[in-house]
Amino acid sequence: MLLESEKRVGVAAAYKAAEVLRMKLGRIKQVNKKGANDLVTEADAESEKAIIDTIRNAFPHHGILAEESGGDIGTADCCWVIDPLDGTTNFAHELGLFCISIAYKVHESLVLGIVVSPMTNELFIATKGRGAFLNGRPIRVSNVKTVSDSLLVTGFPYNLENVFTPMMKRFTGCLKAAQGVRRLGSAALDLCYVACGRFEAFWEQNLKPWDTAAGVVIAGEAGSVITDFSNKAFTLDKMEILASNGNIHQEMLSLLDIKDGTCEKS
Ligand code: IPD
Ligand code: CA
Ligand code: CA
Repeated sequence: MLLESEKRVGVAAAYKAAEVLRMKLGRIKQVNKKGANDLVTEADAESEKAIIDTIRNAFPHHGILAEESGGDIGTADCCWVIDPLDGTTNFAHELGLFCISIAYKVHESLVLGIVVSPMTNELFIATKGRGAFLNGRPIRVSNVKTVSDSLLVTGFPYNLENVFTPMMKRFTGCLKAAQGVRRLGSAALDLCYVACGRFEAFWEQNLKPWDTAAGVVIAGEAGSVITDFSNKAFTLDKMEILASNGNIHQEMLSLLDIKDGTCEKS
């Protein structure tokens, strides 16, 4: 699948959104809360509008599932999955670790992923079966063989209540086993950074489809193995994701496998 026009329109939409976010950074008038720690700003809405207007203009019959304005998938076979600002908490604190994440699905298959990091001018893009690219250069996961030689990354859900104990056990286990563990605050960037070998693995619980849709295409095309914590294939409705360079996948699964009776189901 070449998807040339979808790529062109998706990238144009992401760059328009990147411009919105660059303009808004440090100039936010009001930060609202969707939950106790779950922030949303006018930049989220403006970025999303820029993306949806661009896509609708080119593909009026495609479905759209976007974080802030919700779903309008209808009966469309083709659907865009959009996070207009992944890393809102960072953005609200003027920390440059945030991105725009746009994926494109045909039937149930994710075929295109686009992630733009406005403050580092990085464009990650992948189409199914055709590899992943960072600013036009092909990217690959790292070749590191063990967790002890790995830099890992994770994230914490906004609603910690139901997952706190197992989440901290997993975090502690990985922290002890690895060279280091980072928490960037943008799941889409976490996946892209696994894709280009900056991290060896990423894991998180309770993410939403727009957090992961583009990143899994990019990481998958770069050679990442992506499953849930039980080594079953990852799908957008799963509550767990583990994306690794492949070499350390089994070791990561063992570290994430909490079976001591204290695991609270999310
Ligand atoms: C969040 C980020 C963060 C992850 C949260 C997500 P948002 O997305 O991806 O890294 O830990 O679970 O909700 O709210 O900034 O779009
Ligand atoms: Ca997000
Ligand atoms: Ca978001």
